[in-house]
Amino acid sequence: MATTRRCIARYRGAVPDAVTTAARFRETVGGDPTGVWSAPGRVNLIGEHTDYNGGLALPIALPQRTYAAVRPRVDGRLRLHSDAARDPVDVALADVKPGTPGGWASYVAGVAWAVGEAGHPVGGLDVHVSSDVPVGAGLSSSAALECSVAAALSDLLGLGLLADDDGRATLAGWCQQAENVIAEAPTGGMDQAISMRAEPAHATLLDCRSGAVEQVPFDLAASGLALLVVDTRAEHALVDGQYAARRRSCERAAQILGVATLREIPVADLDDALRRLRDGELEARVRHVVTEIDRVEQCVAALRDGDFDAVGRLFVASHASLRDDYEVSCDELDVSVDTAMAHGALGARMTGGGFGGSAIALVRAESVAPTGAAVTDAFVRRRWTEPGCFAVTASAAAGRDS
Ligand code: GLA
Repeated sequence: MATTRRCIARYRGAVPDAVTTAARFRETVGGDPTGVWSAPGRVNLIGEHTDYNGGLALPIALPQRTYAAVRPRVDGRLRLHSDAARDPVDVALADVKPGTPGGWASYVAGVAWAVGEAGHPVGGLDVHVSSDVPVGAGLSSSAALECSVAAALSDLLGLGLLADDDGRATLAGWCQQAENVIAEAPTGGMDQAISMRAEPAHATLLDCRSGAVEQVPFDLAASGLALLVVDTRAEHALVDGQYAARRRSCERAAQILGVATLREIPVADLDDALRRLRDGELEARVRHVVTEIDRVEQCVAALRDGDFDAVGRLFVASHASLRDDYEVSCDELDVSVDTAMAHGALGARMTGGGFGGSAIALVRAESVAPTGAAVTDAFVRRRWTEPGCFAVTASAAAGRDS
């Protein structure tokens, strides 16, 4: 983890922690914060575009985290500072609504709003945010921000929700509401769930129909393997309409098929369901979702058996399905995956919403640097912006740091 964080530090600037974030709070806000809370970004191992279909997903929390130094106010205002923003944001909680305050501040204000909507009024907050979760890279920097603030509010309001998984699921739900309603991004909840409910050295099997989680041991180093992340630096925007369009297609297909969500279609019934749709595009979308949920189940079984070749094959099949049937990949993601595979990766795929963002590759531990270099070369040859390449381990959920 130290190497990963050093690598990220070179790639993105200084790595924050509770001490440096509290120090920044003293500079930007003045005085001491009441505490510092943090939450991780994520990569999804497999199970993409399944969460809003009531399906299964298998993410891990990243070592990269967002830190929020927080102190309550009593005047109903949110005064928000971030290392990543030149100007602070000052907004009255009463003015927080869909689209307001906008930008990164909506994720913070949205959480305060959602907590209030749940019957726990927030009196105002001073916040300073420092993060090493790459922004716009499909690594859930927004969920990390939401969850760091939700963790803070749970403690500051004495809600005690960090103490167990049920409480953490409640907090994740509020964070998803913040993102859906105030930030106006119609996302499915996987990112907030993993940021709140992850366990170190485990992948978390999320059942997005029941809300249940199952922790699956995920210690690649013990098997001489590593997970390489490639941040393609290609544009990634979930609010640009494509994500919402995919979601609408799934809802329409479910309606035609007479089911609440596509989770209700077992893979054995897929052909029959496809015949009933009579629409090429909807058929392709449904084929992705139904086969992807099945791949998650297969991947969990393969991980439990220590069969990493099978895990790799499932990654590749997932990528092909996202590229060809769900149509959410892009050239940068495809080149990352193809190059990693050509250099001996066991498997590789895009991760997250797509349309840019990041890819992951399951590689032998000694191949992290050469594979990253090969992908970088492939990008440079095409005159694309150099990608950010770094290895990650499954890390801890949101919590209080000081
Ligand atoms: C984004 C969304 C998630 C999920 C993924 C695709 O990350 O925030 O809810 O839908 O895309 O799996």
